[in-house]
Amino acid sequence: MPFVTDDPNMCDDWLVVGPATAEPRSTRLLGETVRLWTDADGTPQCRLGDELLLAQSRYGYLWVCPSGQPARPLFEFPEYSEPGRRTIDCGGIGVAVSGLRVIENFLDMAHFPFVHPDYLGKVPHTEVAQYQVQVEPATGEIWATDCRFWQPRASAAHDTSSEVLYKYRVMQPFSAMLYKSSSRAGELDAIGLFLQPIDDEHVIAHTMLAYFDDHSSDAELIAFQHTIFGQDKPILENHAFKRMPLEGRAETPTRGDTSSVTYRRWLRERGMRFGVRPAA
Ligand SMILES: [Fe+2]
Repeated sequence: MPFVTDDPNMCDDWLVVGPATAEPRSTRLLGETVRLWTDADGTPQCRLGDELLLAQSRYGYLWVCPSGQPARPLFEFPEYSEPGRRTIDCGGIGVAVSGLRVIENFLDMAHFPFVHPDYLGKVPHTEVAQYQVQVEPATGEIWATDCRFWQPRASAAHDTSSEVLYKYRVMQPFSAMLYKSSSRAGELDAIGLFLQPIDDEHVIAHTMLAYFDDHSSDAELIAFQHTIFGQDKPILENHAFKRMPLEGRAETPTRGDTSSVTYRRWLRERGMRFGVRPAA
């Protein structure tokens, strides 16, 4: 394989390469330029040079398996096709950092009051209450449950502050979901964060909403996501190390970091190399 990595955590899995549109286009994947198009019968195709890569269309995106030998099926995202939900692709945003950093930041509630003031948090409401994290034996996915955080404006549909319930899920090293209180009582909105790996230090972040929001326009929902992501992006890109250290104590975990500690251990146990800063 000509790709910049032979890490099976990437090459033997399904990687997102952008929206499932019919228009032929080129994009970057693991250091290479691939060509995407859809056949007349609707079959998605992906080509690298003369080689056809294994591709499928799901959840509004195209997914490619670089080695052609996927170790597992693509994860389930049942909310995408659940009646009553609106699905909205918020567009891809380039981020100049390892995708592992982006997922770790996505799992972190402690930064809300400082990075997203007046939206996802506000000083002095800085406490991250105890929550539960486990790796689900059947799927190997990380689930963080019973997460609660006080938020001034949790989403485009929220005008007032509320204690918001969160659940997080990590399906792949570069894919995660967030479930949070919706504007419909008892229901949770779903946000999928799917990272297209450009190389060890660059991704395109694709965000898919599966929402119960009956009030906001698509443009309002997308603008809200872009506002939040625009606050995270410069901080992510300013990491001293673009790649994430998994060994040693280069960055000491602090309170509320149970998800991060679990994610890093989960990556170590998989022998993750792509996007990882080698131990000194
Ligand atoms: Fe953030």
